[in-house]
Amino acid sequence: MLRVVILALSLCRLIGAEATESGPSPASILAFPVPDALTLADGRHVQNAQTWLAKRRPEILHAFADQIYGRTPSEKLPPQFHVDSVDRSAFSGEAIRKQITITFSRQADTPRIHLLVYQPVHARHPLPAIVGLNFEGNQTIDSDPGITLNDVWVPDPADSQQTNELRGHSRRRAAEDSRGRYNYRWQVDALVQRGYALATAYYGDIEPDFSGGLQYGVRSLFLKPGQTAVGPSEWGAIGAWAWGLSRILDYLETDPAIDARKVAVIGHSRLGKAAVWAAAQDRRFAVLLSNESGMGGVSLYRAKNGETLEHLNTSFPYWFCGNFHQYTGHPERLPVDGNLLLSLCAPRPAYIASAQQDSFSNPSAEFLSAVLASKVYRLFGKPGLGTDVMPPVNQPIMLTLGYHVRTGIHEVTEYDWDQYLKFLDLQFRR
Ligand code: GCU
Repeated sequence: MLRVVILALSLCRLIGAEATESGPSPASILAFPVPDALTLADGRHVQNAQTWLAKRRPEILHAFADQIYGRTPSEKLPPQFHVDSVDRSAFSGEAIRKQITITFSRQADTPRIHLLVYQPVHARHPLPAIVGLNFEGNQTIDSDPGITLNDVWVPDPADSQQTNELRGHSRRRAAEDSRGRYNYRWQVDALVQRGYALATAYYGDIEPDFSGGLQYGVRSLFLKPGQTAVGPSEWGAIGAWAWGLSRILDYLETDPAIDARKVAVIGHSRLGKAAVWAAAQDRRFAVLLSNESGMGGVSLYRAKNGETLEHLNTSFPYWFCGNFHQYTGHPERLPVDGNLLLSLCAPRPAYIASAQQDSFSNPSAEFLSAVLASKVYRLFGKPGLGTDVMPPVNQPIMLTLGYHVRTGIHEVTEYDWDQYLKFLDLQFRR
């Protein structure tokens, strides 16, 4: 009871926009008030979890699909899984490395996902797993020489201006020296040692990240003959990446080594946006780990600082749906905001990570989003974040929602992984 009163008082403070003890007040963060998670479009207040699930959740989900990311096709396109290799001697015999190709069509030259899975060798139970997309190919996540090199859409340093419609990509095999380039971003050894499986794929396998990507990525599988563009409420590239994450989960559901009820989805930056959208739509993801997802992820469109809608829509017009462009310069007209996106994960645990020097992703807005989404968790009898006071740097909060702002730049670091693994241990009671 006491906790309820304390939370209610904190909430009043929030709505009243007074300064909190150590964090900036919502009034100082927001240029416009954000839509309330528990107020239905017709103005009625959501009183319980049942109404949330039956009415408000679908309303919010629909608004994100229709106005922001574009609708994900409901057609299934059943994926086929081909196990290419299983090697029990990875990491000096500590891990099993599996490589699986996921296809969607019998036709050659159609998009396919090359999935890389690591799992500890000595596991007695089906394992909890972490799923995330990587930026430059599976071989970049670890220097393990057994990882197949990515052979589509390699970033091309020759196009340093990134002027062409391929935005600095060319279609060729990745170089050997790209192996392990981003191993610090994945910490595979640590997570295998802690008893987790990791499943990752190159996001360019799903949809290459440039404006002409539609014709090469999975969205092309849904185009009608002769169709070369998508309609204003049809999905953009982030929607495609999120769809790919769900197809990876389809595979994990078939793998007896994995406990498919304990799968967390992770993503950094643009892939953080994709991870949040995947978790929002696909409730099979048990936990969300958002690493500096920023605007278009859990940050707030209506924030005063950080990235602008204009920047997002002019630099990456193909990430979102056509309807989203009408909000450039007018975030206040959006029917939803990042707090509502995060609330779609409720009551599932979610961890939001920001970095102090990453003002573009806007740590205080990411934090406020988690504060505001907490009211939905409370409908389910869960604490959400449990506070509206932004923690000092490097002092994580871990309840049903987790949050930290660490020192440093826009990145994924060992520190972030330490917190994610602690949070997952807590949620999965390990
Ligand atoms: C750009 C973009 C951000 C995005 C980031 C990334 O900076 O504007 O929204 O998060 O790229 O994905 O690295």
